[in-house]
Amino acid sequence: MSLPEQSPRARQDTRLDTWAGRYAARTHGTTASAVRSLFEVANRPEVVSLAGGMPNIADLPLDVIADNLAAMIGKEGPRAMQYGSGQGEPALREAITEVMRLEGIHAHRDDVTVTVGSQQGLDLITRIFCDPGDVVLAEAPSYVGALGTFRSYQTDVVHVAMDEHGLQPEALREALVGLQVAGRRVKFLYTIPNFQNPAGVTQPLERREEILEVAREHGLMVVEDNPYGLLSFSGEPIPAMRSLDADNVLYLGSFSKTFSPGMRVGWVLAPHAVREKLVLAQESATLCPPTFSQFAVTTYLTTCDWQGQVVSFRDMYRIRRDAMLEGLAEFMPAGTTWTRPDGGFFVWLTLPEGLDSQAMLPRAITSRVAYVPGSAFFADGFGARHVRVSYCYPPPDRIREGCRRLGEVLHRELDLHHTFGLDARDATTTPPLTRGPRANQS
Ligand SMILES: Cc1ncc(COP(=O)(O)O)c(C=O)c1O
Repeated sequence: MSLPEQSPRARQDTRLDTWAGRYAARTHGTTASAVRSLFEVANRPEVVSLAGGMPNIADLPLDVIADNLAAMIGKEGPRAMQYGSGQGEPALREAITEVMRLEGIHAHRDDVTVTVGSQQGLDLITRIFCDPGDVVLAEAPSYVGALGTFRSYQTDVVHVAMDEHGLQPEALREALVGLQVAGRRVKFLYTIPNFQNPAGVTQPLERREEILEVAREHGLMVVEDNPYGLLSFSGEPIPAMRSLDADNVLYLGSFSKTFSPGMRVGWVLAPHAVREKLVLAQESATLCPPTFSQFAVTTYLTTCDWQGQVVSFRDMYRIRRDAMLEGLAEFMPAGTTWTRPDGGFFVWLTLPEGLDSQAMLPRAITSRVAYVPGSAFFADGFGARHVRVSYCYPPPDRIREGCRRLGEVLHRELDLHHTFGLDARDATTTPPLTRGPRANQS
């Protein structure tokens, strides 16, 4: 007798929450966004999704990886399938120091803590440093996953303006002075110096030095999140901030974009005392990061040409980036501006005045194109005039088609705006990059 098939529809009987009054205060800001349900529709094949930031791992040599993992299990299975150390496997930590050397970081493996993706690194850092009401400084806009973590620890995120060279040191200085006057406790600056998510911009070396100078003046810790650093489309990587200042920078790395996000392996490089606290926090969160994934990543790094694979990832993403920049140049209405990423996955659009990317999203999805509205990347409600589009996943012809559809949607929105005079929520109040005058316009 066969069992009846499960209904594919979502269950309807779990909506009433009998424990609604019992949740900890830290969960109060953590609601699923309205955008999430739209993304379920956005995943339909007829929709061109420029929304997701999923790495495109189609080129990974899965047959070779499978053989090498099978050999690893034959040889080291009993260790790979056992609990491990809270800090992570020594062989992987050693390999991580070699990966970081590519961006100028000379570190000892004892200062590396392996994490469940860099997302868990963010969580552990916030957990050990932040009390409710503490301030975390972050770029405007910033990575949505980090903002969620900061919110879950009840911190207040204060955004710092960016331009086409990333975070502005002067704006950072002003923010720090203002917060000091207001008696606020600032715990750290969170920054993504390379191919920023979502803005796609990169801090040149001088900019990094200036930011670190301001940080040192104010005794500010810098959390450098660098998942995209090796995915540069032109030339050598810029030295990591951590390579310029080992005392004041905590560095977050990840194998999600250079190998596989499914491995869930990232790391934190931190000074010794911080590292001890991180390991304790890691032990209480997970006992240890997944041993099997760590063995798998180490096997990949030592048996495959992983750097060659990174070069082919870069080539693949560069072709997609070019398709997107060409599509935007061809189809965007006048008054739209965008950044020109030199690596990574994302382009940040500034829409013509009066448009609201969140309000427009259902109409875009009806027109079979999806993006992430800019407001997702701000902790303070700004961003209505902005859009993140990613080129990492769809093939070039779909990217172009997505730009065409988005262009049509924007033209229609502008017609509506001219007819009815709709207002955008933040047409005049957002910082430089988010107002767009310094972003490149094609
Ligand atoms: C800037 C940034 N930091 C951290 C992460 C988390 O990456 P993971 O946890 O897969 O290492 C992402 C993922 O997209 C990201 O874009």
